[in-house]
Amino acid sequence: MKAAVVGASGQIGGWLVHYLRQKGFSVVGSYANVAYSGLEYLDTADHEAARDWIGKHKASLIFYPAGWTWVDGCENDPKRARTANLEDPLNVALAGLEHQARFIYYSTDYIFDGTDGPNRETDLAKPLSVYGQVKLDAEVQISEALGDQFLCLRTAWVQGPERQGKNFTYQVWRNLSQGKTMVCPSDQASNPTYGPDLAKVSVDLALAGEQGIWNVAGPDLWARDELGRQIASHFGFDPSLIIGKKTAELNQPAARPLQGGLDTTKLEANYPKSLRPLHDWLTDFVVKCNDSRNSGTDLPITHPDALSGK
Ligand SMILES: NC(=O)c1ccc[n+]([C@@H]2O[C@H](COP(=O)([O-])OP(=O)(O)OC[C@H]3O[C@@H](n4cnc5c(N)ncnc54)[C@H](OP(=O)(O)O)[C@@H]3O)[C@@H](O)[C@H]2O)c1
Repeated sequence: MKAAVVGASGQIGGWLVHYLRQKGFSVVGSYANVAYSGLEYLDTADHEAARDWIGKHKASLIFYPAGWTWVDGCENDPKRARTANLEDPLNVALAGLEHQARFIYYSTDYIFDGTDGPNRETDLAKPLSVYGQVKLDAEVQISEALGDQFLCLRTAWVQGPERQGKNFTYQVWRNLSQGKTMVCPSDQASNPTYGPDLAKVSVDLALAGEQGIWNVAGPDLWARDELGRQIASHFGFDPSLIIGKKTAELNQPAARPLQGGLDTTKLEANYPKSLRPLHDWLTDFVVKCNDSRNSGTDLPITHPDALSGK
């Protein structure tokens, strides 16, 4: 069986390639700007090239952990946000449909307004930001086009070891290891989600033929500043370097859900304990980073020290 991962150079994509190979898939993965060995170049904004790439590989499963994920950037450039997060994935999904491929898209709790989170799959979405709106529009339009060939995985605050070292855990490590303070919202809450677990259960859901919308997020909810302190303490840094401030004081261009997060009752009932809680994944984060540094394994990981100049 063959699978394609568009955005394999990203944090979710890297782990998807890893777990798909473990399941015996032949996997082709793409990058856009950050090349890693074994990945193929693909800019999904070039719709003809994207259709050709999908047509050439004819994968039966197409995972799409790609797009423009910078929420404030999207707020300032709605056209690019729409192209990258809706039109490009729709084009790829339609190209896959020509050979009956199933399409797996990643959406977000930012489609909700943060008044009554964590939200269920069936709750009414009410995005506050351009990013949230285009992700919701993508859910609707791809679903209309693909029907039961579409699997939409909503997730939140993805963390864990990754190659590009961009996520919040790396930001905490980088700042605090240099003795710098870090200002974090104290009134935005969601479920931090461990990237390797998310990728692993994504593969399970796809292989089981699941369709429609599934919330796939960590089992515990945290305010962002408290999450930062927990990460700091776990890694031996001074948690008081994390400074909590109210969202109203932060001047973030895009509005965020405050009481956000995803209710994972449906996932828990069908795929119990697929996602580890915070302290378990922090332990695994360290194990995976040390393993990869000590034994040079092919895990898609960069050790945070490497990004802190140590
Ligand atoms: N991270 C989160 O907390 C979170 C939460 C909810 C939903 N999601 C969704 O999950 C998906 C993946 O997120 P992530 O955190 O894994 O993102 P990420 O680490 O930033 O990776 C994004 C991937 O998309 C690729 N990409 C960007 N522009 C592209 C283009 N024009 N053509 C082809 N590929 C392109 C990137 O390639 P290069 O790096 O090589 O440029 C990278 O491989 C996104 O759809 C996001 O909306 C993420």
